[in-house]
Amino acid sequence: MRNVGILSVGKYVPQRVVDNHYLEKMVETSHAWIVSRTGIHERHIAEKHERSSHMAVHAAKEALKNAKLDAHKIELIVVATTTPDSAFPSVACLVQKALHNKIAAAFDVSAACSGYLYALTTAKKFIECGMVKNALVIAADKFTSIIDWNDRGTCVLFGDGAGACVIGPVRGNRGILSDFLLAHGEFASLMMVHAQDREPLSQKDIFVRAPYVTMLGPELFKIAVNSMSEAVAISVKKAKLKVSDIDVVVPHQANDRIISAVAKKLKIPKEKFFINIEKYGNMSAAAIAVALYEAVEQKRIKRGKNVALVTFGAGLVSAANVVRW
Ligand code: ACO
Repeated sequence: MRNVGILSVGKYVPQRVVDNHYLEKMVETSHAWIVSRTGIHERHIAEKHERSSHMAVHAAKEALKNAKLDAHKIELIVVATTTPDSAFPSVACLVQKALHNKIAAAFDVSAACSGYLYALTTAKKFIECGMVKNALVIAADKFTSIIDWNDRGTCVLFGDGAGACVIGPVRGNRGILSDFLLAHGEFASLMMVHAQDREPLSQKDIFVRAPYVTMLGPELFKIAVNSMSEAVAISVKKAKLKVSDIDVVVPHQANDRIISAVAKKLKIPKEKFFINIEKYGNMSAAAIAVALYEAVEQKRIKRGKNVALVTFGAGLVSAANVVRW
């Protein structure tokens, strides 16, 4: 079986930055509370025209440019999103159209904040089995479009953005060494957005089915720590490495305290974790994609380094990959 590696990365975040002090004017919260409970200082918020596909295309173009690969040669486009522009067509098809690509298969993956790693693993399998030669993997979420801006329990946490990578065969002992995907559907109700019914059954349903994120934060917190720690431990073992062999961990950026707890549980120094939550908040599937981009950009990730990518998200779904860069 051929080794598949991440050949390049790209990112896009909207220009508009909203800091915690701005949110103090909207809901009963404070910069001090948000920073101490989450680590978030500010987030990027998309304008009306900046839909998930718009952000996805920008991130994809940068990844293609960095891979020095012509968009026409991409054979598979997988987009992780929970905020597609429309129920269909998929964001992946919209990206294909924008790239004027005529040969790729294209589809979206729905795995909330774990979507990027679900998409990465899916695309990798297509290449491993020889069905395609390369793939464009994108995570794009306009998560603030499904946030209730009157709910201080959720609105301070999220932001918008997109990240992308081009993957393909690599030589030597590099590449994506292991994959781990898991779902715990029994926890589905801890975080959800109801699909909008055309005709609600009653007035009560109109309220219950509001198309906004509902979330039981403290319950999710505990499961996040356990599932991310487990995902790293299993994927490291699958890669035939030890936890101490990991040079950099790029985790889902949901809460700085979750990352600290995962570091403690795995006995990995927190300095090995790449964290950018202070600038972006939780961008759902895009969070880890943008974090990976910035870890590469800042040269925290270099050729030969062992990198653990790990996420959890609504579903509940967790995922991890170990990559030798
Ligand atoms: N500002 C001020 N006070 C607040 C705010 C706010 N924005 N939000 C909640 N509070 C209050 C609560 O009302 C509560 O007050 P009380 O003690 O008077 O009842 C108090 O702060 C503590 O609330 P908790 O919910 O217990 O706070 P906690 O320390 O657990 O932090 C948080 C809440 C940040 C949501 C945390 O639980 C968390 O990060 N959980 C994980 C959530 C998550 O990761 N979700 C994403 C899943 S990934 C995906 O798929 C998108």
